[in-house]
Amino acid sequence: MVGPSLLLVLLSSAPFNEPAARAWLESMRKDARRNMSVDPVDGAYFYKVTTELKAKRVLEIGTSTGYSSGWFALALKKTGGKLITLEIDPDRHAEALKNFEAMGVADIVDARLCNALVELPRLEGPFDIVFIDAWKPDYLKYYELTVNKVRPGGVILAHNTTNAAGPMRSFLERIQKDPAVRTEFLQESIQGLSISWKK
Ligand SMILES: C[S@@+](CC[C@H](N)C(=O)[O-])C[C@H]1O[C@@H](n2cnc3c(N)ncnc32)[C@H](O)[C@@H]1O
Repeated sequence: MVGPSLLLVLLSSAPFNEPAARAWLESMRKDARRNMSVDPVDGAYFYKVTTELKAKRVLEIGTSTGYSSGWFALALKKTGGKLITLEIDPDRHAEALKNFEAMGVADIVDARLCNALVELPRLEGPFDIVFIDAWKPDYLKYYELTVNKVRPGGVILAHNTTNAAGPMRSFLERIQKDPAVRTEFLQESIQGLSISWKK
């Protein structure tokens, strides 16, 4: 059994290797609660939708230590795409950078230490996928700052739509009424995920 520290040494300068990267991602599950990571079932959905859309540009709001980013990155290694991911907390951002190195995906992940509300207006689209997973009361702001930067056929995903519906009520109303998108919900995890397809 190889421990996480030895794995990091083995992987940090190694080229991308999918089984090893998946093993690292799995090792991150032990800190899932502390890092507020998505459930693996939602991560597997990110992998699937990124692959199916042949996504080249993915934007994530709320990196934490990079667990959900890792799922996108696994798929983007296949599609030849890149991930931009935004995190406001310096410690979690620093840990995410180490995880991206360990997974062999640092070359395709642009991890930015920033306030998303400041950074989003500066980002140019189009994106294939936007994933929202930061401060719940700000979901409507993140949505309004990104919806016009998603290409037709692309998708805006948002996490915790079941277990944190209260603080994001305005967002949930908007994505179900906005004629620019068609929204459905995935309730495989207890957190829940909204899926808004851009028309
Ligand atoms: C639920 S966690 C993200 C979990 C991550 N997506 C995963 O599944 O591994 C939310 C993160 O959003 C970050 N965050 C909150 N408000 C933010 C903002 N305005 N800009 C950037 N990051 C923010 C928090 O610091 C926290 O690390």
